[in-house]
Amino acid sequence: MVIQVDLELWARDAGKAVGRGDLIIVIDALRSGTSILNALTNGARAAVPVMTLKEAYKLRSQHPEYLLAGERGGLKPVGFDFGNSPLEFTREKVEGKTLVITTTSGTAALARSRAARWVLVGAFLNAWAVAEKAEEVAAREAIGVSFVLAGEKGKFSLEDFLCAGAIANGFAAGHVHFSDKVQAALLSFKQAESDLTGRVVKAEHAEHLVMLGFKEDVDFSCRLNVLRTVPTYAGGKITLDR
Ligand code: MLT
Repeated sequence: MVIQVDLELWARDAGKAVGRGDLIIVIDALRSGTSILNALTNGARAAVPVMTLKEAYKLRSQHPEYLLAGERGGLKPVGFDFGNSPLEFTREKVEGKTLVITTTSGTAALARSRAARWVLVGAFLNAWAVAEKAEEVAAREAIGVSFVLAGEKGKFSLEDFLCAGAIANGFAAGHVHFSDKVQAALLSFKQAESDLTGRVVKAEHAEHLVMLGFKEDVDFSCRLNVLRTVPTYAGGKITLDR
């Protein structure tokens, strides 16, 4: 069976991918996807994405042991334990913990995708592992695969597009059929691959992060295929369990 692979450029179109019955790969390379991935890889039990600060504070009042993570305007909200810097989620701080995470665009893309049976969190760090897992599940369940790009406040994000290309690059040739959007992402990634950080740092959101003092986050997030872990979102939680 040939797996159809498609791409939604904007999170507001996630419903189209859900409607097709596709496995969804949500991408927010800078920075929430990378933060969630790093936290889980370092032993966090689960990440619970929520849309609003209010929901995060409420969950913490119900579960005082939960840790709050995320950003507004790129910065850590008042009373939160972590911002949205992937480097903050060290093993010492997150092992065995449940995190509640709320960010501007990444958690919204997850929320819009959550009705899909399979939702994976993709980043540059785990690109090949995500491709392998998506291909295996899609073949087994005879479904398609869709990338949903979180973007930034409803706008297209170059880094998420390149990340979709990096993951597409990990699919086994001959087993998949790429839509034109996926082919464009793959071509862009191949063009950028030899200097990925140098390209990504020129993207608008990365420029903003550098201005806020988060250049290290951009460098960290642009490392390719260094992790084998694949977070999945199901039952309101993102874990490595599935
Ligand atoms: C988001 O979800 O909007 C981003 O992860 C923002 C950020 O880089 O902090």
